[in-house]
Amino acid sequence: MCGIVGALTDRPVAPLMLDALRRLEYRGYDSAGLATLADGVLHRRRAAGKLAGLEAVLAAEPLPGTSGIGHTRWATHGPPTVANAHPHVAGRVAVVHNGIIENHAALKAELKAEGVVFTSDTDTEVVAHLLDRAIRHGQTPQEAMAALMPRLAGAFAFVVLVAGEDDLLLAARRASPLAIGLGDGEAFVGSDAVALAPLTRRIVYLEDGDWAVLRRGGVRVFRDAGVPVERPEQISTVTSAMVGKGNYRHFMEKEIHEQPEAIAHTLHAVLDPGTGRATIPPPLDAPGIPKITIVAAGTSYYAGLTARYWLESLAGIATEVELASEFRDRDAVLPPGGVAIAISQSGESLDTLMALRRAKELGQKVLALVNVPESTIARESDGVLLTRAGPEFGVASTKATTAQLTALCALAIALGRAHGRLSEERATALREALVGLPGRVGEVLQHEAHFMRIAHDLARARDVLYLGRGLSYPIALEGALKLKEITYIHAEGYAAGEMKHGPIALIDETMPVVILAPTDGWFEKTASNVSEVRARGGKVILLTDAAGAARLGEPGDHVIVLPTVDPMVAPILYAVPVQLLAYYAAVEKGTDADQPRNLAKSVTVE
Ligand code: F6R
Repeated sequence: MCGIVGALTDRPVAPLMLDALRRLEYRGYDSAGLATLADGVLHRRRAAGKLAGLEAVLAAEPLPGTSGIGHTRWATHGPPTVANAHPHVAGRVAVVHNGIIENHAALKAELKAEGVVFTSDTDTEVVAHLLDRAIRHGQTPQEAMAALMPRLAGAFAFVVLVAGEDDLLLAARRASPLAIGLGDGEAFVGSDAVALAPLTRRIVYLEDGDWAVLRRGGVRVFRDAGVPVERPEQISTVTSAMVGKGNYRHFMEKEIHEQPEAIAHTLHAVLDPGTGRATIPPPLDAPGIPKITIVAAGTSYYAGLTARYWLESLAGIATEVELASEFRDRDAVLPPGGVAIAISQSGESLDTLMALRRAKELGQKVLALVNVPESTIARESDGVLLTRAGPEFGVASTKATTAQLTALCALAIALGRAHGRLSEERATALREALVGLPGRVGEVLQHEAHFMRIAHDLARARDVLYLGRGLSYPIALEGALKLKEITYIHAEGYAAGEMKHGPIALIDETMPVVILAPTDGWFEKTASNVSEVRARGGKVILLTDAAGAARLGEPGDHVIVLPTVDPMVAPILYAVPVQLLAYYAAVEKGTDADQPRNLAKSVTVE
């Protein structure tokens, strides 16, 4: 949700920041901008639209200087115009900002009363004006920052550059992420360590509520109105080799193909190499947990819905799955001793972070399931289970999802054993099914030409229905989300049994219906739904295994035959074909799978 970067260097800073913004563009691409200092004077370039627009502006009018700040925007306050593009400048101060200053209206009114004229619709501009006003009144930039921080409400991160201060950047974070990078006589700051990967791996993570003074010689961190605090330097595990597209057209395509490794690495981390069993992380290792509450958003929420089946049927633990954005503002009634699991690829989704805090208020211990170990959600939880998918850049989550599902399934098996619900024989069979998944996913990926042919038809549809029962139901929801977010085709996921209660009215000969039907305990009932769709002329796209295809496939259908796996792990495998269908439909339509309109990865606004 907006990417921000800042650098104090001994080399031309604009190309270096542009490169860092490329790695942050997944966070938003409504507009982009840079500001630099040359001989103490502020220079700024901005452009609406994707980063390519800013590149063109910079090619025509290069930016001088060795210190600067940059921004790629996901619009919240004001349309994606040049005037609303960051950096925002007031007098000597330039600001790039991610998140929302919630009390901006009151602050704006105060400044307007003093005659300040605003040039944008953004909430950000108040920060620039307040700092500039304080500096004009004689405060040092650091004093101005210390006075400003207690006045700001909301969840945000921002970086400030001040005219005449060539060796200074000010940075602050509240709920939104921010990482500081230390170089050799250079200092950097960015929304994540990935942005800084080619510049330095020496990272200082700011804690929630911290603000910092960066100079080429190092960083000093403060809280509130200026209380100094120590934050440790860490070596980031992200390398610059991880952040390219390789030979793929899109990050999404690359990440779909990285799933065998993502699943295998996650299993490797979750299963003890000696015993082959998963260790149960705290707080789930406590005896007699009365209830698990899963909180998550989007695709991570669907991973949670899948996990509910596993936790209930393998481990016998009562489980609720809650949309983080709803849960956080509800008076949920949760039992003492209960555990909440916050699932988030980025570990930064604000809704999920707020739901985590709410769960704590309601007396729950929290386990984080995240892909980014240094993330805020990981740091605020009582225990952490890590997926090892590697950095994910495509806005539509793919490899992180299958890695989440893998970790959750392994966890449910371990809990099933610990709670005496699952025999060792069945647990071993399930673990073997998980260990076999990278190979099975690899087999699915070999049939891309088939997916492309089906996607050719899918791309021409106006509406698409996805149906699944039981463990396939959350994957039907996931398939519909993937398709709508990257192709803009209206798609709905439904529990197959619900079709007759309403959505069946939509079915006609123009409506493709993607039906997920592995041969499992729900298969016979799903088979009836297939007949009902056919009877109304719907175009069936059937995802099943060999036995299912022999039983159900008909000449007029598209049938995708997937490897036969234990039905318990089938959702992990079936997540892959729904990604491929959506991806190739986007390629067919010519939409941008990596940067679909209006979206951004890592949603750090509410
Ligand atoms: C969809 C997608 C989003 C995210 C959601 C939560 O493909 O990627 O729906 O799943 O924004 O993000 P995380 O998992 O980072 O909390």
